[in-house]
Amino acid sequence: MKNLLVTGGAGFIGCNFVRYLLEQEPAVRVVNLDALTYAGSLENLRNLPDESRHVFVKGDICDRTLVDTLLRDHQIDTIVHFAAESHVDRSIHSPGAFVQTNIVGTFTMLDAARAGNIRFHHVSTDEVFGSLHSGDPAFTETTAYDPSSPYSASKAASDHLVRAYARTYGLPVTISNCSNNYGPYQFPEKLIPLMILNALEGQPLPVYGDGMQIRDWLYVTDHCAAIHAILKRGQPGETYNIGGDNQPPNIEIVRTIGSILTELRPALHPQPATLIKFVADRPGHDRRYAMNISKINRDLGWQPSRTLAAGLRETIQWYLDHADWLTAIKQQQGLSNWMQTNYATREQTKQ
Ligand code: NAD
Ligand code: TYD
Repeated sequence: MKNLLVTGGAGFIGCNFVRYLLEQEPAVRVVNLDALTYAGSLENLRNLPDESRHVFVKGDICDRTLVDTLLRDHQIDTIVHFAAESHVDRSIHSPGAFVQTNIVGTFTMLDAARAGNIRFHHVSTDEVFGSLHSGDPAFTETTAYDPSSPYSASKAASDHLVRAYARTYGLPVTISNCSNNYGPYQFPEKLIPLMILNALEGQPLPVYGDGMQIRDWLYVTDHCAAIHAILKRGQPGETYNIGGDNQPPNIEIVRTIGSILTELRPALHPQPATLIKFVADRPGHDRRYAMNISKINRDLGWQPSRTLAAGLRETIQWYLDHADWLTAIKQQQGLSNWMQTNYATREQTKQ
């Protein structure tokens, strides 16, 4: 691992991974290919640990000519593929972009990697497994795929293509399926940063349905460490589940964010708890995710390093300390249009 191509490295997890890798691997050079969609920003790549080993290229993963050129010119030996359309609610409003980037884009990257037999790590999600009932065992690497949203269906399709390239062409691939991430640089359309932002601005905190849906939250740097462990010690052809062993319902997360903010900003008015509003549920909303992480723990010695309480506090403090980042992101990325599309007509429920 000398010359890495990271796709989607201007997005939330990708930019954290680029930082992590530049810190952990002093000899590695990183080429970062990102289309800078609404979810990506150069604001996420300011003050990298060692700029001289990082090259940013604005471009689309569906552009085969560009991808071939980058692989050749930078003598890429490893690809870590993050680039995707990643937000379930957007996939409900506009599924086409998810099919294009997540399926056609992954195919384009795989086919280019195949030409040079380049090691390919595919970053995927627990959402490919669908929804658990309470009491069901956590997802393992062999749980059957059963995706519910256009987002998770497109990620499932991309996972199948990755495995097909391994079996058919012998491409050296690994796949990780990870649970919900949170932490610095997350675009404020996802649950945790949205709640922080709205609470700071005195806006409603919209909780879908009854708020009892369960996700398995993981601090983003722990995800980066898991991918790093897979790149170093993972076996080609293998899949690894990654998760946080943190599974409170959404409403509890929203209340905890409110109480941490109240503690850190005692003068905040109105108090976040008074802003919670239950609103119409997401169609096809998965009820519960949980990840069995014994394989990556046993084979690669990885485990999450933070509790959710510690990670949330760190995350909230980061957002408080980076008001400039938040202002720049809000101005650049058309967040207000999305708020209008997803929330303006969403009916408030009675609970
Ligand atoms: P994100 O939406 O924050 O970032 C995605 C990045 O990909 C952006 O920088 C965007 O500009 C870029 N991109 C989108 N389309 C592109 C294209 N056609 N060509 C080049 N670049 C393009 O997403 P994220 O939350 O950082 O997720 C990264 C990856 O991790 C995704 O593959 C996602 O499915 C997976 N994942 C995310 C989570 C999570 O909780 N966020 C959990 C598990 C897995
Ligand atoms: P999200 O952060 O969009 O991630 P995902 O859908 O990939 O799990 O949502 C996390 C959970 O929070 C999910 O159960 C939906 C819920 N949610 C709300 O209740 N309100 C919101 O405004 C958002 C964005 C999400």
